[in-house]
Amino acid sequence: MSKITIEKNLFCLPWTQTLLGTHLNGKANFMALDWLTRVNYQPAMLGICVNKGHASNAAIRETGEFSVNIPTVDMVAVTDYCGIVSGAKEDKSKLFELFYGELKAAPLITECPLNIECRLVQTVDLPTNTLFIGEIRNIYSEEKYLENGKPDVKKVRPFLLTMPDNRFWAVGEQVGHAWKDGVQYKEKISGK
Ligand SMILES: Cc1cc2nc3c(=O)[nH]c(=O)nc-3n(C[C@H](O)[C@H](O)[C@H](O)COP(=O)(O)O)c2cc1C
Repeated sequence: MSKITIEKNLFCLPWTQTLLGTHLNGKANFMALDWLTRVNYQPAMLGICVNKGHASNAAIRETGEFSVNIPTVDMVAVTDYCGIVSGAKEDKSKLFELFYGELKAAPLITECPLNIECRLVQTVDLPTNTLFIGEIRNIYSEEKYLENGKPDVKKVRPFLLTMPDNRFWAVGEQVGHAWKDGVQYKEKISGK
């Protein structure tokens, strides 16, 4: 075997790029966010990891609400900007056209094909980061991004982040079908 160990934080290939929306001192604020995942099916919940030093962390603690917005490949630069500038120093509230759903402190970005508004249900404090778990209250989109009522990745055109090289990528070629290719494989190895 030729396996070697590598540094513990250098494994992430890849993440979906998102923009976390919060209300900071009553104003919309956005930060680039990649550390997120679904954490519960019913009710639908999202877990997001935010560094304790970020203004967004304090904002979520104060309001108990946040949004997760999926930008398109056309929004790479402004998304990265939201990841290098803090709302504690710069006003990021005018970078996008905004709308609001059910929650008053979860600003949603019109230009993003998918907008998820969440109400905070659990806070897990870790040494450097906080895992905020939010119940998804609503997801907003537009007909042009959907196929049979469901988001279509080719229409949404999200982008991905890889680390440690810190590069953004468009979604590549399709290589299979989930819950389908495994069935064929199962039949093959069981000799059916
Ligand atoms: C591409 C990219 C992805 C990022 N992902 C995260 C993340 O998942 N969690 C996090 O805590 N910070 C992440 N950051 C850092 C924050 O977005 C950044 O520190 C931001 O300026 C914080 O803004 P705020 O102080 O207004 O909250 C990321 C930065 C970049 C450039």
